[in-house]
Amino acid sequence: MLRSHTCGELRISNAGQTVTLSGWVQGVRDKGSLLWIDLRDRYGITQITIETDKASKELVDVARTLGREFVISVTGTVAERYSKSDKLETGDVEINPEKIVVINAAITPPFTIEDETDGGDDIRMKYRYLDLRRNSVRKNLELRHRIAIEVRNYLDKLNFLEVETPVLIKSTPEGARDFVVPSRMNPGEFYALPQSPQTFKQLLMVGGFDRYYQIVKCFRDEDLRADRQPEFTQIDCEMAFVEQEDILNTFEGLIRHLFKSVKGLDIPTLSRMTYADAMKFYGNDKPDIRFEMKFVEMNDIVKGKDFKVFDDAELVVGICANGAAEYTRKQMDELTEFIKRPQIGATGLIYARYNLDGTIKSSVDKFYNEEELKKWVAAFDAKPGDLMMLIAGEENKARKALSELRLEMGNRLGLRDKNKFACHWIIDFPLLEFSEEVDSTSVGEKGGRWHAKHHPFTSPKLEDVALLETDPGAVRANAYDLVINGVEIGGGSIRIHDKNLQAKMFGLLGFSKEAAQAQFGFLMNAFEFGAPPHGGLAFGFDRLCSLFGGADVIRDFIAFPKNNSGRDVMIDSPSPIAQAQLDELMIELKK
Ligand code: AMO
Repeated sequence: MLRSHTCGELRISNAGQTVTLSGWVQGVRDKGSLLWIDLRDRYGITQITIETDKASKELVDVARTLGREFVISVTGTVAERYSKSDKLETGDVEINPEKIVVINAAITPPFTIEDETDGGDDIRMKYRYLDLRRNSVRKNLELRHRIAIEVRNYLDKLNFLEVETPVLIKSTPEGARDFVVPSRMNPGEFYALPQSPQTFKQLLMVGGFDRYYQIVKCFRDEDLRADRQPEFTQIDCEMAFVEQEDILNTFEGLIRHLFKSVKGLDIPTLSRMTYADAMKFYGNDKPDIRFEMKFVEMNDIVKGKDFKVFDDAELVVGICANGAAEYTRKQMDELTEFIKRPQIGATGLIYARYNLDGTIKSSVDKFYNEEELKKWVAAFDAKPGDLMMLIAGEENKARKALSELRLEMGNRLGLRDKNKFACHWIIDFPLLEFSEEVDSTSVGEKGGRWHAKHHPFTSPKLEDVALLETDPGAVRANAYDLVINGVEIGGGSIRIHDKNLQAKMFGLLGFSKEAAQAQFGFLMNAFEFGAPPHGGLAFGFDRLCSLFGGADVIRDFIAFPKNNSGRDVMIDSPSPIAQAQLDELMIELKK
């Protein structure tokens, strides 16, 4: 080994020992008679101190050639420091070197490798290997490692087997867009990279594996956001001979184990909310329940008072923000602008302040006198000091906009503490949703079609099966999501294990019999050979890591992530390929 200790290891008890440390030069301070080198590795920083008039000329000369990020090895004696530092774990000691070897010189890095760096996102991504030397990034990856270990510990104890599934699979028209890979040996044909190992894990159940998991890369060619990467990792799980309740309990156990073992937290039993309630009270299928601020429907109270905006609206719905009555006009204008942004798309915000002196003042006083506004107060159960905010419009749009406003108010009022965790299940998702869109993969009639809300293998609730014929939109699924702090951390379902029901489902999704057989015949055929009842779920591993790390952006928890345009700017990918490669693949690019 080129070191006897790491740079984070030495303590006062090591004083007097001769040691060898290797690492990177964090910085050099040369005060003439004294010269200090901060030597850094993954484990910490140790100070090297040279008294230049006592040390050999050769050693001092070498020390004076050192620059930031040089890789060196230092052999010397551990000594108690004269002025100790409580900022470093090694702050009680220093090394008085006898020998310094420059292992590798370094050019000046493009940004400072400190906790607070001067490098912007782009430059840090380009030189990701330098960014990885920073504490914050390394700690995120250490956290990721710890969570992965604890996932394996928990699942292994419950007899889950980790099985790898293929990465070159078959493109299907369901879900997000696939990334595809041309096959040289089968010209004109393509593999797809898996959006998830869904069908394979189901086949493992048919194969008798009973309890499967995999920490696995998944690929989706979709628009990127803070919590989405084109290539991301799932903790993918499946169980046979189970019902929904068994899955919820098993994986609630996993989440509780992770909170306990990684963060030292005992989280309360997870509450459950139906999809219908989530939409009704929070306008969102992944509500952040760290705070209440539930929606109140106001149609009955506000309509019929000659205020056209409310009278014409399908839904008038509001929230009550505790203690926000004193918001200034400027703040209200900001909030109005916020919900009018195109991404949110509300037409306006109506509000009423319930002042501390008991008066109620609204932005629509012309239509609603104090008497009327008292009804608002009663509906919201508002207290003096509260601010009531209402949005009117088409039902879904109004709910969506109010959901954004609720989250924004949660932020502004400090109700979304990153160190507080509110975990719950959303259950009883609808099986299908209708989409007007005709996309490139759409197989249905023109003018949209039913899409599986979760995926086409999800089982409807038995009691709703009859509705498949008459009212598909009303059918509920045995599907569930795990939501933590308003983030969808995981989702899954009980699967269909009956060939006929699966065929019916494909029919509803617009597949002809032939198309269903061509795309998913392997699965339906497998169901004829004795398929056990089964179900499972997958957690977004990157999302879980960023949540545990108190961050919103998953990129910081991935060693080599892509940027928002799906590019890896370090290796410069995607990139064109040589004509010869294209020829070999029989691919002709459109000019
Ligand atoms: P689903 O599509 O809900 O389910 O994905 C499971 C979880 O994966 C995470 N996730 C993502 N994380 C980062 N970047 C992305 N682009 C991304 N997309 C999804 C989310 C999500 O909850 N096969 C099913 C699971 C099952 O039914 O067992 C599936 O993939 O946290």
